[in-house]
Amino acid sequence: MKHFLSTQDWTQPELQNLLDLANQLKASPMNETLAGKSVALLFLNPSMRTRTSFQLGMQQLGGIAIVLEPGKDAWGVEFNPGVVMDGEAEEHIAEVAGVLSRYVDLIGIRAFPKFQDWDLDRTDYVIKALAQHASVPVINMETIVHPCQELALMQTLQERLGSVANKKLVLTWTWHPKPLNTAVANSALLIATRFGMDVTLLCPEEAYLLDPQFMAAGEANAAASGGSLQVSHDIEQAYSGADVVYAKSWGALPFYGRPDEEWNLRQHYRHFMVDEPKMGLTNQALFSHCLPLRRNIKASDAVMDADYCVALDEAENRLHVQKALMMTLLGASL
Ligand code: CP
Repeated sequence: MKHFLSTQDWTQPELQNLLDLANQLKASPMNETLAGKSVALLFLNPSMRTRTSFQLGMQQLGGIAIVLEPGKDAWGVEFNPGVVMDGEAEEHIAEVAGVLSRYVDLIGIRAFPKFQDWDLDRTDYVIKALAQHASVPVINMETIVHPCQELALMQTLQERLGSVANKKLVLTWTWHPKPLNTAVANSALLIATRFGMDVTLLCPEEAYLLDPQFMAAGEANAAASGGSLQVSHDIEQAYSGADVVYAKSWGALPFYGRPDEEWNLRQHYRHFMVDEPKMGLTNQALFSHCLPLRRNIKASDAVMDADYCVALDEAENRLHVQKALMMTLLGASL
C-alpha cells in the first residue's frame, strides 16, 4: 500500500504520471471512477483551498468526502505512543486510524508543526503515526511539507513553460508579520529540484535557510535531475534572469518557538516583498504563491494583478492534481 506523505517517496516518473492524469482530468473533470469510494479529511488547522478542492474533487469522481476537525467537531487526538492520556485528547491515533480505515478508502490529514520544538516537529511524527496505524492510503494535506501544493505548482509551470528543466526558479523568502510554517518552501525546493530546475533559494540571512534535511534533499535531487541549487542573500543577483519567482514567508528555524526573538531579525526585511521593480530584473518571469497571501505584505497589488501571476492557476490545479492522486492511490484509471 502506497501513501502520499512526501513527493520524495515517489519516483519522478510516478509524479509525472500524476501530472499527466491531472491534465486529462482538467480537460474532462467529471467521471465515476471513484463511485462508492470515500475519503476522510482530518483538519487540525484552517484551510480554504485544500478543504474545498478535496471535497469537490472526490464528488467529481463519484465518491464522497467526510471533513473532520479533531478537537472541534471530532474528539481531540493524541499522536504520541505510550502517553498517559490525562490531557485534552480523548482518543489515540491508533483507534482513530483504525476506525477510519474500516469506514473509508483514503485518509488525508493537515497537521501543521506546533512551533514549540523543531527537533520534534521536523520528524513529521503526526502524519507518520497516522500512516503507521492506518490500513488505507494516507495523504499529506500539509505538515512540514505540502506535496499536493508541489504537484499543483509543477502542473502550472509545465502548462506555461513546457519542459521546466534548467529554467531558473527563485524561491524567495518574503516579509510577513509573524513566523510561518516552512512546509511550502520545503516543498517548492523539493519539486523544483526534482524536475531539473536551476533553483536559487533567496533569503535574508543564514538563519532563514531551510532545515538541513530539505537542503540536502534538494542538493541530491538537483544532482540526479541535472538541475542545481544555490543560496543567495542578494535580491538583485537572485532575481536576475529568473524564469519563475515563487514566494513564501517562513520562520527562522534557529528561533523556532521564540517569535519575539525572531522579530529582532525579521523586522529588518520588509523590503523582501515581491514588487514590480524586482520582477523587472527577471527574464519576464512567472510569479506564483500557494495562497493565502497578504497583499502589499508578501507581494504588491501590481504583482498579484499582473498577467504573469499564475497563483490562481496553481490554486485551481490543486483540484486536478488531487483528483489524479486519489484515483492513483485507489488504482483507478480513465
Ligand atoms: N494553499 C493552501 O493549502 O491553501 P489552504 O491553506 O487554504 O488550504
